Formats: sequence, structure tokens, C-alpha cells
Amino acid sequence: MGDREKKVIFSGVQPSGKMTLGNYLGALKSWTKLQDDYECYYSMVNMHAITVPQDPEVLRRQTTELLAQFLACGIDPDKNTIFVQSHVHEHAELNWVLCTMTYMGELNRMTQYKDKSRKSEANLNAGLFTYPVLMAADILLYQADLVPVGDDQKQHMELARDLANRFNARFSDTFVVPEGYYPKETARVMSLQEPEKKMSKSDSNEKAFILLAESAETTAKKIKSAVTDSVGIVKYSDEQPGIKNLINIYSAMTDKSVEEIVSMYEGKGYGAFKGEMAEAVVETLRPIREKYNYLLENPDYLESIYAKGAEKAQIRAAQTLEKVYNQIGFIPKKNK
Ligand code: TYM
Repeated sequence: MGDREKKVIFSGVQPSGKMTLGNYLGALKSWTKLQDDYECYYSMVNMHAITVPQDPEVLRRQTTELLAQFLACGIDPDKNTIFVQSHVHEHAELNWVLCTMTYMGELNRMTQYKDKSRKSEANLNAGLFTYPVLMAADILLYQADLVPVGDDQKQHMELARDLANRFNARFSDTFVVPEGYYPKETARVMSLQEPEKKMSKSDSNEKAFILLAESAETTAKKIKSAVTDSVGIVKYSDEQPGIKNLINIYSAMTDKSVEEIVSMYEGKGYGAFKGEMAEAVVETLRPIREKYNYLLENPDYLESIYAKGAEKAQIRAAQTLEKVYNQIGFIPKKNK
């Protein structure tokens, strides 16, 4: 553990649809910022995605599309290990070990499980329930120090930390205890239609979210029809959640501070604010979308990235799993 040159990062996104601006500002933007200073493992977590029903053909396609989105957002495949979760079987194996150390009560408390199970009562499967344990396995396998995610993952991060501490206490120091890394203003990007709700790709109202791959016209339209309020002043206040969310997005997409943006629109109405904001967001997304479309034309290149990624990821994952099996009393396999 102590002999590593750089600290380690692990994070993942489910290939269950196209990436939203929430995924970008909550997670991917941090990934690009941190990639020079950390040894990073970034994964398309397809094993998580099947906790809700998926069409196999669509899941396959979305997995490589997600990889193209990672790269288009600026994740450098030469600096980072980018891989498909199911290609590294150690995830499933560590998941099992950790399941035996997780209490039902801990999983029962998970708010994301409660939300999801309410939405899909017909598919209340055990995988959905134990999902946070698999997430802990993802993180602990790589001995990650830091996990850049949005704040909807905070409770899952706590479980990962508890499991690391529990294992270390019960056996011996095996896992690094990971920390969550949350962006300051965009750890929770809100819906454009109901600003008290998180922006989510599964929202039935498409105007609620922005997709990185959608057209510039669609993005601009969605911003212009975002729900605001009747105050009419561009102010950063909890009483104006719609405007606050737009200011946060505007700030993160342009790297202008919140104060700068508020002062830019002093004495101006929401029309001017939304118009210029839409333009700024569209211009920041344009090169990402163009690179994404270009990469989709190069499936062999994408395949070479995830092939190399799985090989590198597995080396570290296997080291950790071997230690774990040793600790818990599994005898090593002997080759005759
Ligand atoms: P997922 O696929 O739902 O989302 C990927 C990342 O995007 C962040 N995010 C948001 N951030 C800010 N505002 C939003 N509206 C918003 N919506 C999504 C999420 O917080 C996440 O960082 N369980 C994870 C995937 C996962 C994982 C892991 C992450 C599996 N194993 C290990 C980190 C480490 C999830 O469902 O993310």
C-alpha cells in the first residue's frame, strides 16, 4: 500500500443511456482535472446496469458509446486505465466476500435503493439491493484513495469506507479506506423542469436533462425553457432554486465564478441570462459532441482502449483479491 508512487482514483458510470450534463459536471469534469496527479481507473460499470432490465443489444452498444463519451470529455487513454467492469471478474468475486460482511440493515437504509425499488416494484431483485456492495468492491479492489462522484453517491461511499474498516479490523490492514471527492457547486445538478429534483437521464420529461450528445439546438431550447421563478432578478439564492441551478451550470461550464455571473446580469432579466448561458453551454459541449461522433466511427480504436484497460486493471485487482482470499482462509489454487 505504502509503496505507490501516486495516489489512486477509481470511479465509474453505468452504461444505461447517454451521459447527462449532471454526469459530466458531477463526475467526469473532476476526472479530467485529477488525471494528471493520480493513478486513475475509470470503468463502464455494466454489471451495475443490469440491476434494472436492459436490452442486451442496447447494453452492448451503450457500453462502447460510454467509452467514447469518456474520451470525448477529455479522459486521456494513455494516462488512465479505462475498462469494462465485467472484463475483470475480480469485481464479482470481491463483491461476494463483502456481501458476507454487510448487514441487511445497512442496505435497507440506502435511499437510492428505496427510490429505485419504489419505481420498479415488479423487479425487486437481490442485485438492486446489494448494488452498493458491488460498488464498494469496485473501489476497494484498486485500493483507491479518492472517488470522484456526485453527491447522490455519498451514502454508498460511506458503506465502502465502513466495509474497508470492518475488513481491516476483522483480519488485518488490507484495504485503503477511500474518500469521496465532490465538486463544489455541481455535486448535484438539478432538473431543468423541477429544480428540487436531481437531473437524471431516466426522467420521463426530456426537457429536464441535457445530454452531452444531443444537438446544439436541443440544448439551447431546453435551457431557454428551464423553469425559473417570478422574482425576475438573477440572484444566487435557495429561494430561487431554478436560477441557482442555472448559475451553477453556467459557472462550471465557463469557469467563471458565481459572483462574476451574478454581477454580469445585474439589472438584466432572465431572457438575456438564459440566452447567453445557452450559448456558453452549447459552445463548451460542441467539441465534446464532435469528438464523440468521430470516435464512434472508430470502433477498432475503442476496442483497443478497453482491451488494454482490462489487462491493466486486472493486474491490480488480482493482487488485492489474492490478499483478501489469503486473509479469509481460502487456500490458494495449485497448478499440477
Ligand atoms: P451513475 O451512472 O448514476 O452516474 C455517474 C456519475 O454521475 C454522477 N451524477 C450526478 N452528479 C451531479 N448531478 C447529477 N444530477 C448527477 N447525476 C449523476 C453520479 O454521482 C456518478 O458519479 N453507482 C454509480 C456508478 C458506480 C461507481 C462505482 C461510482 C459503480 N461503481 C464505484 C464510483 C465508484 C452510479 O450509478 O453512477
